[in-house]
Amino acid sequence: MPFLILENLSKHFDGNLVLDNVSLQLKERELVAMIGPNGSGKTTLFNAISGFLKPDQGKIIFKGIEINNLPPNKIARLGITRSFQRIRLFHQLSVLDNMLLAARYNEGEKLFSALFRTRLIHKEEEENIKKSLEYLSFVGLFDKKDSLGENLSFGQRKLLELAMAFASDADLILLDEPTSGVFPETKAKIIQNIQKLNEDGKTILFIEHDMELVMRLAKRIIVLDHGKLIADGHPDEIVNNEHVLDAYFGKRKSYA
Ligand SMILES: Nc1ncnc2c1ncn2[C@@H]1O[C@H](COP(=O)(O)OP(=O)(O)O)[C@@H](O)[C@H]1O
Ligand SMILES: [Mg+2]
Repeated sequence: MPFLILENLSKHFDGNLVLDNVSLQLKERELVAMIGPNGSGKTTLFNAISGFLKPDQGKIIFKGIEINNLPPNKIARLGITRSFQRIRLFHQLSVLDNMLLAARYNEGEKLFSALFRTRLIHKEEEENIKKSLEYLSFVGLFDKKDSLGENLSFGQRKLLELAMAFASDADLILLDEPTSGVFPETKAKIIQNIQKLNEDGKTILFIEHDMELVMRLAKRIIVLDHGKLIADGHPDEIVNNEHVLDAYFGKRKSYA
C-alpha cells in the first residue's frame, strides 16, 4: 500500500480548472520535489492534501485512510503537516512559544485552545519544551529561543518554520517554497535540514523554484502545469522532458 495516493483530483475556481485530474503516489521515506510555473496549482494541491480545501473530484488516501473529506486538524493528527508559502508566525510570542504552539496545533487542537494552554501550562510542558529546544538547535536557532517572532529575520523565520514542521511528529511533511527569498547561506542550511529530516525517516514533498537545488536534493521530481501533472520522474528525465521545457520556456520549436 503506497503511503499517499492522489487519485484523479480536480478543483475549479471561478470556472478555471486549477487541478486537472491529478493522480500520483508517494512511497514512505521518499523525498520528492514539485515544480511548475506560477499559478500551476502547486499550493492548491498542498491545500487539498492537508484538508484546507476540498477537491471537487477525486480521492486522497493516506496510510490506507481516505482523507479527502476530513478537516485539517484530523488530517494533521493522522500525520501530515505542512508549511505555508506565507509564514504563519505569532509576532508577539517568543520563538519557543511558537514552537510549543505548532506542536499542539499539529496534534489537532484548535488554535485558540492551543495558544491558551501553551501560555497557561508552560512550566508543565517539560517534554514539549525539551523537544522544541532540540529542534531549534537542529536548525541553528537555539540562541533565538527567547526572541519575539517579530524580531526574526526572514531567513530565521523560514528556519523556524522547518523546526515547527519537525516538532509536529508528522511523518508526511509538505513544504511550500521553504527556501524562497532567503540568502544563500540560509538556503544551504534549510536544504541540509530537509535532507536530515528525510534521513530521519520523514516523507517529504516540497515545492521549489530553484532547479539546481531541486536537481541536487530530489531523486524524483513532479511537474505541474495549468493544474495538470505533466511529468513525474528522475531529475535527468525531467530536464530533458519536452512537456517540461515547453511549460517553462514556451515552444522550443520556434527557436530550433
Ligand atoms: N482560493 C482561491 N480562489 C480562487 N482562485 C484561487 C484560489 N487559490 C488559488 N487560486 C488560483 O488557482 C491557480 C493556482 O494557484 P496556486 O495553487 O496558488 O499556484 P502555484 O502555487 O502553483 O503558484 C491560480 O490561478 C490562482 O489564482
Ligand atoms: Mg504557490
